[in-house]
Amino acid sequence: MTLFELIRAFVDESPVAVLITDATVKAPGPIILYANGAFGKLTGRDPTEVIGISPRFMQGRETRRPVLDHFAQALAAGERFHGFLVNYRADGTKYVVEIDCRPLRNADGRIEHFLSFEREVARRLGRPSRDGASRFEPVEVSNDLLGKELRRLRVFSAAGE
Ligand SMILES: Cc1cc2nc3c(=O)[nH]c(=O)nc-3n(C[C@H](O)[C@H](O)[C@H](O)COP(=O)(O)O)c2cc1C
Repeated sequence: MTLFELIRAFVDESPVAVLITDATVKAPGPIILYANGAFGKLTGRDPTEVIGISPRFMQGRETRRPVLDHFAQALAAGERFHGFLVNYRADGTKYVVEIDCRPLRNADGRIEHFLSFEREVARRLGRPSRDGASRFEPVEVSNDLLGKELRRLRVFSAAGE
């Protein structure tokens, strides 16, 4: 079983949206190789429909270019990207998505895939802060069986937390 197959089996039923792409950073890449059911629910699409295209299809008018530049730089540098983006569902409605995207390396250290965990968040009420992680909160709080594992992997936690 390859790492890709293992992760796929692990997250297929997860309520957290998961995308796996190839390792190409420049357009037309990264190309989606796998999307789980929760990703389909989040985006309003059949997960099989997004295989072979780039995650850019979710972007639109209010998706901020500076955040995408930061995302592209992190991918090119082989670093984790944790951030918040405006994306659009199949029906055109927009939502704020929290993305935790990581490179998956083979035994030689070469990046083979990128994997992202994604969830919808809403702006917290009250005093705004500059820090994205405290400005937004998840829309759905799940008692996911994977929850403990995701915490162990520090998924969605701010760097240094
Ligand atoms: C695994 C993975 C998941 C991604 N998910 C999203 C996403 O949900 N929404 C989004 O707007 N961009 C997402 N991206 C980022 C875009 O694919 C692209 O890398 C980004 O727009 C920066 O590249 P660009 O400057 O060439 O557009 C994802 C990238 C990867 C590798």
